[in-house]
Amino acid sequence: MDTNKKYTWHKIADSIAEIDFSASGLAMLQVPGKTICVARHNDQLFACTQKCPHAGGIMADGYIDALGNIVCPLHRYKFSLQNGRNTSGEGYYLKTYPVEIRENGVFVGLPENNLFGWLK
Ligand code: FES
Repeated sequence: MDTNKKYTWHKIADSIAEIDFSASGLAMLQVPGKTICVARHNDQLFACTQKCPHAGGIMADGYIDALGNIVCPLHRYKFSLQNGRNTSGEGYYLKTYPVEIRENGVFVGLPENNLFGWLK
């Protein structure tokens, strides 16, 4: 997680068990103002934008490979769930969000909209 960024945390579920993951470990969830994709891999949770940065494929319809990359269903470009890096090498970047499992639920952090945020 980028420690310089400020996040607003949104509760997405009371527990991991409450999230309706597909057989491939992906789910599409709503947070205020956007839809995100949540991924479960090796007992860890990750979150990213729902649309592929290449041509808008719905990431929750893809799958997770053995290395922990999310694979877009449209053209099979791969992205690291950890940092959004395009591990298949096409040069795109998938926006990822931090996920925290707390005592009172599962939370996703969305970057705070700050007019001067790009200066940081
Ligand atoms: S739309 Fe995702 S790889 Fe092309």
